[in-house]
Amino acid sequence: MTEKKAIEALTFEERVFPPSDEFVAQANAGLEIYEEAEADWLGFWQKQALERVTWFKEPEVVLDDSEAPFFKWFSDGQLNVSYNCLDRHLETGGDKVAYYWEGEPGDTREITYRELYEEVCQVANGLAGLGLKKGDRVALYLGMVPELAIAMLACARLGVAHSVVFGGFSSDALAQRIQDAECKVLITGDGSWRRGKSFPLKENADVAVAECPSIEHVVVVKRTGEEVAWDDAKDVWYHDLIDGQPKEREPEVMDAEDMLYILYTSGTTAKPKGIVHTTGGYLAGAATTHHYVFDIKPDDVYWCAADIGWVTGHSYIVYGPLANHTTGVMYEGTPDFPDKDRLWQIVEKYKVTKFYTAPTAIRAFMKWGEEYPAKHDLSSLKLLGTVGEPINPEAWIWYHRVIGGESCPIVDTWWQTETGAIMITPLPGAVATKPGSATKGFPGIFPDIVDDSGESVPLGGGGYLVIRKPWPSMLRTIYGDPERYKETYWSQHEGIYFAGDGCKRDDEGYFWLLGRVDDVMNVSGHRLSTTEIESALVAHDAVAEAAVVGRADEITGQAIAAFVTLRSGVTGDEALVKELRNWVSEKISPIARPASIVLTDDLPKTRSGKIMRRLLKDISEQRQLGDVTTLANADVVSAISDMAASRPQED
Ligand code: WTA
Repeated sequence: MTEKKAIEALTFEERVFPPSDEFVAQANAGLEIYEEAEADWLGFWQKQALERVTWFKEPEVVLDDSEAPFFKWFSDGQLNVSYNCLDRHLETGGDKVAYYWEGEPGDTREITYRELYEEVCQVANGLAGLGLKKGDRVALYLGMVPELAIAMLACARLGVAHSVVFGGFSSDALAQRIQDAECKVLITGDGSWRRGKSFPLKENADVAVAECPSIEHVVVVKRTGEEVAWDDAKDVWYHDLIDGQPKEREPEVMDAEDMLYILYTSGTTAKPKGIVHTTGGYLAGAATTHHYVFDIKPDDVYWCAADIGWVTGHSYIVYGPLANHTTGVMYEGTPDFPDKDRLWQIVEKYKVTKFYTAPTAIRAFMKWGEEYPAKHDLSSLKLLGTVGEPINPEAWIWYHRVIGGESCPIVDTWWQTETGAIMITPLPGAVATKPGSATKGFPGIFPDIVDDSGESVPLGGGGYLVIRKPWPSMLRTIYGDPERYKETYWSQHEGIYFAGDGCKRDDEGYFWLLGRVDDVMNVSGHRLSTTEIESALVAHDAVAEAAVVGRADEITGQAIAAFVTLRSGVTGDEALVKELRNWVSEKISPIARPASIVLTDDLPKTRSGKIMRRLLKDISEQRQLGDVTTLANADVVSAISDMAASRPQED
């Protein structure tokens, strides 16, 4: 009965890619690790936590659920996260490179673990000199410069919680986040490079700070060299702050449940939620997943091309990789500056072995064309990863073929700011992958799919993604709002974590993410996810990217409105639009046939690259646009509005 289904599963992709014998032979884990975690999941996490984290006091308690959903992990353990990322590596390899940093204009910096340790200690000493103590909060508002990672680690060393605000956000967004956490210090820059232009960090910071009485000092990293307004009472240059500071400092002894950081996720309309992560469980989760999912080896050159302003950067540029003593690449700018081959040039230059990016980037590479990666030797790559949105199977295949040379496993990793670490993913040496599926729960993680009444949906069906048991790197609360934490994540179904994503499972139990539950459409009584229809569109040779929304319709409840970006070199006309509508109908089913298709050069996206379907829905229903503060590319919206108004195609 269709009306009982939370979300329908329309199609399943059939291509399967088992790991090669060669990869399996050298992999960090095989299938046995799933069995181990299945047999004793708390024992599994305890073992990982003891093996991958160095504790000042080893924990004996694994999970304390006495105040659920306020779970505690390793609660009697003590540690310091910066000690784990730095100090303990000095003896075994202080000269190993921690980061190859590549500035957008082409300047570079190579930082060893010892150099990183020394600068972190200097910054920690400088910040302590400004009066910061364990338990305080600091806001960081910077571009992708090494000083951002250094400042995070310096905070961790002092037991000060950091709140990183993405360096492209407005002064309003910054002020709101500073106020919510009552940060005492803001660390920013004069500006940051983006597509050859300077983004005015200090100018924005000044506007924000004027509304933030809690800020006592503003530390300013000199990057672009542009002139900035200066308040002698508050402002201090980063280089002056660290000048002459000792290159060592004892790390603060932290309880496992002390706060490490706050990171805000923007709800679509409501006030951003300050997601709180603590030290012990978070580090154990980030380090364990990083080791197994990316199959990390001592000689890897690992590049997570996300921004540190998002959780992906926190867990997989800074904490996980450094805890694992990995060499990483960090790049300041955009992928198309000075040209569209910049990332591939960097892969070639540093001989990157593991590369992790987002579907939105992959679709942009597809749109730009294969000639850009073709200019470079990408043969150093051994594994590719993706995160952030469902990946359309055709984008997966493109990534596999063009970037991976058909020889790299792809890990499609599902997780959230809230989960702190990867939750659903293949282990590359153990699980055969299927394009578009994040495959299985990580060992010791228990995802499931439920219907409206909270019952498990049998294999082959779709519904709401939940996590049945707590996990070490989970969020602990929403900063200052424990009620909202309970309400948002733990109230839909008693005692289980509600992720807010739709998902389906195939007969082998593989998970296929279907996008946010808020985006699910209701067409003639069918609850359809946007993802499958978008993926069908992207499977057409002419298409690079697609977004689908349900627009109000008198007859069907909602009608499917599609927005499509074509690959470069393809011209769109009425005939193509007709062909695409029929194509979806054939590929999936006539109920999935879009009522209208608008061809557009770009789609509205958040600053982390997720498609903002909500705005496309507003456009389709000719309504005033809702909240646009997180919109990265405002100009595309008006262009799409004009086109949408002139294109009725229903039949
Ligand atoms: C989506 C990013 C499908 C999902 C780490 C989730 C994904 C939200 C995937 C969290 C994936 C992330 N497949 N969807 N592999 N990874 N998502 O907080 O909707 O920025 O709930 O964390 O991104 O986004 P966030």
